[in-house]
Amino acid sequence: MTEPSATLILFGATGDLAHRMLFPSLYNLLSDNLLPADFLIVASGRTVLDDAAFHKDVDAALRKFLQPERYDTALAQRLCDMIIYCPVEAGNADQFAALADRVRDRLDRGISVYLSTPPSLFAPTAQGLADAGLVGPKTRIAMEKPIGKDLESSRDVNDAIGALFDEQSIFRVDHYLGKETVQNLMALRFGNMLFEPLWNAAAIDHVQITVGETVGLEGRVSYYDGVGALRDMVQNHVLQILSIIAMEPPARLDSTAVRDEKVKVLRSLRPMDAETVKACSVRGQYTPGAVAGEIVTGYADELGKPSDTETFVALKAHIDNWRWTGVPFYLRTGKRMPARHSEIMIQFKPVAHSIFGSRGHGSGLEPNTLIIRLQPQENIRLLIMAKEPGLDRGGVKLQEVGLDVSLANAFAGERRRIAYERLLLDLLEGDPTLFVRRDEVEAQWTWIDSIIGGWKDAGMKASPYASGNWGPSSAIALIERDGASWHE
Ligand code: BG6
Repeated sequence: MTEPSATLILFGATGDLAHRMLFPSLYNLLSDNLLPADFLIVASGRTVLDDAAFHKDVDAALRKFLQPERYDTALAQRLCDMIIYCPVEAGNADQFAALADRVRDRLDRGISVYLSTPPSLFAPTAQGLADAGLVGPKTRIAMEKPIGKDLESSRDVNDAIGALFDEQSIFRVDHYLGKETVQNLMALRFGNMLFEPLWNAAAIDHVQITVGETVGLEGRVSYYDGVGALRDMVQNHVLQILSIIAMEPPARLDSTAVRDEKVKVLRSLRPMDAETVKACSVRGQYTPGAVAGEIVTGYADELGKPSDTETFVALKAHIDNWRWTGVPFYLRTGKRMPARHSEIMIQFKPVAHSIFGSRGHGSGLEPNTLIIRLQPQENIRLLIMAKEPGLDRGGVKLQEVGLDVSLANAFAGERRRIAYERLLLDLLEGDPTLFVRRDEVEAQWTWIDSIIGGWKDAGMKASPYASGNWGPSSAIALIERDGASWHE
C-alpha cells in the first residue's frame, strides 16, 4: 500500500450514488479518523452550484441516508469543510482547467478520481483530466459499472482509460466486493480446514446462487431498459460471487494472486449458444402483482411501453475445470421477487453408503447443505443429520438440524459498514484487490455475450412472471429437471 491520496475528485457528485452511498461513506470514514490529514474532496457535476449550496445538499443527503443515530451536526460540518464544488461538463476544457488550478499543487500527494457518471462520460472525463495536466504517476481512477454493454464496448472503454492510466491505477468498482459478507466467503473457505477438502466435484452435487430484489425499476428507466438483469446483475455481482466460491485457493491475499484465480474460473465458464440457452437459461419480466403485501405495477407499465428487457434471469452454468466438472451452478437474480434475499447454497452429495434404514430409504437421511446468506442478514447454516430421540424400534430415524451462525450476533457491537467505505479507502490507499481487473471484465463479458448471442439466435423472449414470485415457472423447471429444487 502506498501513501493515501490527499485529494479525491468525485465526478457525478450531484447524482444518486454520491448522495446515497459515497458521501455517507466518506462521513463514516471521517468519523473513524480514516481520512488523510488535510484531505480535500473536489465534488464535480454538470450543475452550476457554489460551495455553500452543495454543502447544503451533502448535509441533506447525510441526514437522509445515514442511520439516524450516526448523524452529528459538527461532523457533517467537518466533512463539508473538506469539500469544494467545481462544475465541469465533459468536453469543456476551461472548466477542467479551473478544476486543475484548485488541485495542481496537491498532485504530488496523490489524487484519486472517482467516476460516478454515465459510462459514456468515462473516456471524455479522463481525457479532460489528462489535458488539464492532472494525470500523473500518483493519479488513480475508479469507475462505476457498467464497463460497456458487451465485450467489444468494454474493450473500447478499457482502451480509452488504459491509454491514460496504467492498469495498476485503474479501479473498476463492483460494490459487491466491498460487502463484508462477500469478503467473508474467502474467510469461510480459506480460514477453515473443514470445508476446503470437500469443496469439489467429489463431494458437491450442485451450487445455487440467488440474488433476489423486491424493488422494480426505481425510476432508472433510461438506464435499465435494453440492459436487463443479465448485464445489470449477472455480468458483475453474480459472477464475482461465483468466482470467489469456485476459485482455487490463492497463494496470498493480494491483488494479483486473488484476481489471477478469479479470472481462471471466469475463463472456464462453458459458453452457451442457441441450443444450450433453451435448456440452460430462463428470461423473465415482471407483470403486476404484490410484493410484501403491496400491489405493484408491471415492468411494461412502469416503462410506459412494451419491452423485451428481462428483469429476471436464471441460468445453469458449468465450470469446465478439474475441480468442478459435472457440478452445475444454478444462478438466478431478479427484480420484484418475494424477498430481498441473497444467498449461496452448496448442496453436498449423499453419503457414500448408508447404514440407516433400508438402503437409506425411510430413515430420513438427506445430503448435507451449506447455506450462506449474504443479505439481508449475514448468516451461515450447515444442515447436518442427527438422530431423532427415541427407542428406534422401527429403525433409526434421522432428521436435518441446522448448525447456525448468525454473524450479526457473533459480531454484535461491530458496525456493519457501507460497502463503499471499504472501496473508497482501498482506492485512496491504492489497494486494487477488491476491484475488477481488465481481464476479469473481459472474461465476464465473453460468457455473457455467448448467452445474449444464444438468446438472439434462438429468438428467446422474456416470459412474464407476476411480481412477488421467484420468476417464471420455467425457472423452477430449469432446476427440477435435474432432480433438485431452488432453496427458498
Ligand atoms: C446495482 C444494480 O449494481 O446493484 C441494481 O445496477 C441493483 O439494479 C443493485 O438494484 C443491487 O445492489 P444491493 O447492494 O442493493 O444488493
